[in-house]
Amino acid sequence: MTEEREDERREHEVGVGPWRGPWPEGDHWDHELLASGDRRNVLDRYRYWKHEAIVAELDTRRHEFHVAIENWQHDLNIGTVVRTANAFLAKEVHIIGRRRWNRRGAMVTDRYQHIRHHATVEDFVSWARSEDLAILGVDIFPDSVPLETYELPRRCVLVFGQEGPGLTPEVHAAAQATLSIEQFGSTRSINAASAAAIAMHAWIRRWVFGQVPKA
Ligand SMILES: C[S@@+](CC[C@H](N)C(=O)[O-])C[C@H]1O[C@@H](n2cnc3c(N)ncnc32)[C@H](O)[C@@H]1O
Repeated sequence: MTEEREDERREHEVGVGPWRGPWPEGDHWDHELLASGDRRNVLDRYRYWKHEAIVAELDTRRHEFHVAIENWQHDLNIGTVVRTANAFLAKEVHIIGRRRWNRRGAMVTDRYQHIRHHATVEDFVSWARSEDLAILGVDIFPDSVPLETYELPRRCVLVFGQEGPGLTPEVHAAAQATLSIEQFGSTRSINAASAAAIAMHAWIRRWVFGQVPKA
């Protein structure tokens, strides 16, 4: 590779090369990253930090909403839901059903997100009740109410269903309410990961920006 090409490649590379100058002092610095560079997909403020130091810092600021997704048929949306949950700093992500899920869409964000597995809906519901969290289903059922005008509680878990079947009747029955996202085109639904991003952002608008929805 010519020098020019090498420079071009470096310019498009994510992250930073080895630390220049005397190494900084502090327990959160990762000596291996300082020595060889930090190419992780993290904010610049976390460059060269140990992984556990980043998680610990995020833990001091996590929001009070949780997200859950049902996983009975290996739903491919889960990785994207985890990535969005990381972006909006959800307290935890819950996988209900099968333990295994495809991590591809998560783009490694699952390493920074607390993920809890519940084998059954019953287990999930008893956990949510023990934490005093409002269970809110997100789906388009005849009894759903519009997310756009719903006053989301601060402490809640937003639950999403699978491509195809949507939320199970068990989650529907356990939910304090089921919320629908208004659509205007010809399709019945959007995918679960898109719905999850919209719902999480509704919580952010309400509880970080104080935007109370108008009926
Ligand atoms: C593709 S949908 C499932 C199909 C849907 N139950 C139906 O009746 O056509 C998968 C998941 O995405 C979410 N979802 C998709 N569109 C939605 C909408 N307009 N409002 C609320 N949730 C939606 C729900 O969590 C749903 O369980």
